[in-house]
Amino acid sequence: MGGKKFKRCAKRTEERLLVSKKINKMSNCSPEEKFIEPWVNEEGFQKLDLNKLETPCYIVSEDKLEQNLKILDKVQKKTGVKILAALKCFSMYSFFPLMKKYLAGTEASSVNEARLGHTELGKETHAFSPSYTDENIQEYIRYSDHLIFNSFSQWNKFKKIINDSKKKVSCGIRINPEHSEGEMLMYNPCAPCSHFGVTLANFEKDNLEGIDGLHFHTLCELNADALERTLKVVEEKFGKFLEKMKWVNFGGGHHITRSDYNLELLYKIIADFKKRYPHLTVYLEPGEAVALNAGVLTTTVVDIFHNEVDIAVLDISATCHMPDVLEVPYLPQIMGAKSLSGSLKKEKNVYKLVGPTCLTGDIIGYYAFPEKLKIGQKLVFLNMAIYTMVKNNTFNGVNLPTIAKMDKKGKIKVIKRFGYDDFKERLS
Ligand SMILES: Cc1ncc(COP(=O)(O)O)c(C=O)c1O
Repeated sequence: MGGKKFKRCAKRTEERLLVSKKINKMSNCSPEEKFIEPWVNEEGFQKLDLNKLETPCYIVSEDKLEQNLKILDKVQKKTGVKILAALKCFSMYSFFPLMKKYLAGTEASSVNEARLGHTELGKETHAFSPSYTDENIQEYIRYSDHLIFNSFSQWNKFKKIINDSKKKVSCGIRINPEHSEGEMLMYNPCAPCSHFGVTLANFEKDNLEGIDGLHFHTLCELNADALERTLKVVEEKFGKFLEKMKWVNFGGGHHITRSDYNLELLYKIIADFKKRYPHLTVYLEPGEAVALNAGVLTTTVVDIFHNEVDIAVLDISATCHMPDVLEVPYLPQIMGAKSLSGSLKKEKNVYKLVGPTCLTGDIIGYYAFPEKLKIGQKLVFLNMAIYTMVKNNTFNGVNLPTIAKMDKKGKIKVIKRFGYDDFKERLS
């Protein structure tokens, strides 16, 4: 699963529908029910010289990334938990030497991620997959030290191979506490009939020989209170099995590096948990919290025209370069502009921003700017390090954005540019 996800209560759903109706009425366009992320900030990127920016380009700030890593490390030091970076969210391996200084390792959801984490970052490599196969299990064993199974059926199929393996791997089972903290089906592993994790009713309590740990991942962009409620249910349902384990993994979705995250509550939750289960090593595997607000995506306005509303075509695409904008959906923020999820009426210099593909729905959203946009103008999308590069595609033959780093002095260094060969390589 991926993306800037739920945190969507019923009230917000109503608001969302109202807003989209308004947009619909104002502009006669199809409704775009997108959320604004209140935690996004432009800290560290204000000094970017827009005129000199290459576009499209992801720029990831070393400084901001390190600030996040220091917060995560503080959590490790204060509580004794081990924090793994979920690579599905952020896999910019040129930063792995920096990440390695602070984190306990990586969490992978495929053989490729396990290999990348193991070879480029090292330390611990934990893998979770609902689909270990005869073809890939040996590679998983080779690159991982912890393997988490999504079902007892998968565990039964592979436990002999794992037991017989020369390389020792610690195995766990993903549990599903059936406790939801968000309501969007797409991002709720505890939704009815979910294919993630074993529910209590299906938990094979007599089939735990060789199982060292339990794993749950149920949160998404949430604060410590959500973990507190979840943990209570996990313990009520699975507490007696935790007693027999060596480790427990609280999954991802902890928005630890967000300015309003309740770190004190997190410390307390973990300290209390450790009193009840002192023998357990506790893991967290956040993705977003690692690189939250650490990257931007630069773009150029390629064309401007009018059809009931002012429309600006950009050189970046929602569907290719920030697919969560359409999947969640959410409204990414632009430096110096106002993201419009409400009425367009009161606003000046409103533009519908769209991508360069032929997909009618390649719409980023509506924004109000301080002045009229000009063709050739550069814009900067915020919070673009997470669930972007890892999800990119070359639909329509659209090029992948350049990837760059900003060092602590603000100097930008291009790491990789993409071209025709990258597009062609993926086809045959
Ligand atoms: C099993 C698992 N762990 C960790 C994560 C990382 O979550 P986040 O990026 O929301 O912190 C995910 C995200 O989907 C996941 O599925």
